[in-house]
Amino acid sequence: MSTTFPNDFLWGGAIAANQVEGAYRQDGKGLSTSDCTPNGLFGEIINRNQHQINSIKDTAIDFYHRYPEDIALFAEMGFSCLRVSIAWTRIFPNGDEQQPNEQGLAFYDKLFDEMAKHNIQPLVTLSHYEMPYHLVTQYGGWGNRQVIEFFTHYAKVVFERYKDKVKYWLTFNEINMSLHEPFTGVGLDRNSSKQQIYQAIHHQLVASGRAVKLCHQIIPDAKIGNMLLGAVAYPLTPKPEDVWAAHQENHGWLFFGDVQVRGYYPTYMHRYFKQNSIELTITEQDAQDLKNTVDFVSFSYYMSCCATADPSLKTKGNILDMVPNPYLKASEWGWQIDPVGIRYLLNMLYERYQKPLFIVENGLGAKDKLETDGTINDDYRINYMNDHLVQIREAIEDGVEVMGYTSWGPIDLISASKAEVTKRYGFIYVDLNQDGTGSLKRYKKRSFYWYKSVIASKGAVLK
Ligand code: BG6
Repeated sequence: MSTTFPNDFLWGGAIAANQVEGAYRQDGKGLSTSDCTPNGLFGEIINRNQHQINSIKDTAIDFYHRYPEDIALFAEMGFSCLRVSIAWTRIFPNGDEQQPNEQGLAFYDKLFDEMAKHNIQPLVTLSHYEMPYHLVTQYGGWGNRQVIEFFTHYAKVVFERYKDKVKYWLTFNEINMSLHEPFTGVGLDRNSSKQQIYQAIHHQLVASGRAVKLCHQIIPDAKIGNMLLGAVAYPLTPKPEDVWAAHQENHGWLFFGDVQVRGYYPTYMHRYFKQNSIELTITEQDAQDLKNTVDFVSFSYYMSCCATADPSLKTKGNILDMVPNPYLKASEWGWQIDPVGIRYLLNMLYERYQKPLFIVENGLGAKDKLETDGTINDDYRINYMNDHLVQIREAIEDGVEVMGYTSWGPIDLISASKAEVTKRYGFIYVDLNQDGTGSLKRYKKRSFYWYKSVIASKGAVLK
């Protein structure tokens, strides 16, 4: 068996604008849905046009001003790729303008130029858990079909602007998340009906198809993918009803990939819609737009879960309703650690789609301790990532085409679900406390040196 990863494998990390940039409302930035959930994507929704409050995300780790230093550190680790997102509200502050905000465009020019200096390929998400808040209050979010036009316009503007700088794109981050958090995903009230949520999701899928088409037209040598929360479910027991429950649970998220890869709704969704009295408005043009399928499939993977036919066993998890797997240990945040699951998921997706796959998020959120000598000994993170990368290498040996691996949060950032700073993912520690105090100084953790050696050896040092 080969002990190294392919030579053209893209190694790096992944961050999102609203979790790192800060610079809230600077240089013409508009108010986003993320700005209005200061306590994280499951926290209270606050209209910040009406209420004067602060959020830790307003400054975050100040990547907006410190990106040259951070990118130099990523380069030192040997990154060939960095996944970032563009904040839609920097380009179109309200979302419905015709003319983009030049200051916002200029920021990402500088960011991509800085990456180019270090030979780091950008992988850019068009929408990572945020949209202009104005589109929510004035139009009803993705529930309104007009939002497809606004998004398409935004996508066209950034494709044209960065066509020489960005060759890898993603449309919507964890597009299946809308089923669990409709405000963040599609700008809808949390008490929206399934009918409303699926119609909004449909609009987003159409917008994704249109963005794929535009990307191919404007940047013929670019590749554009979708992005799924890889919520792989195992049956809790071999009981046939549990096996079927797991199959259905997986359909819940694979549905998004099926549409984005195949270009039409899978048959099992017709039955689901019928049973739930959901009637979607799908125009002829929508059906055409969906046919613009993605070049590759990307996903996040943190944990697996179990499915059961017995509803009394379900517990409310951080993001998803989860049934714990009795064979797995969990992180401090209760996320069950399952390295074999990533091999299983890679094989599952490749057999289903036969498209190149890209792991664009994976990592361990943990509490780190900054020692008095400035070191951080995060062996638990090294172990987690080592074990996952070993399984990824196995999947590659199984024949799965894997384009690359960008670990989540290569530098500590603000966590998405609860806006916590204490939940750190980075190879780089940021001196920031939950109350906003801290010097924002960067420190290299032990994992920094470890990841550097993994990249330099193309994985040969993995155990
Ligand atoms: C994914 C998101 O759900 O998981 C990221 O794409 C997020 O934005 C990551 O940060 C980890 O979740 P959390 O809540 O620990 O930050």
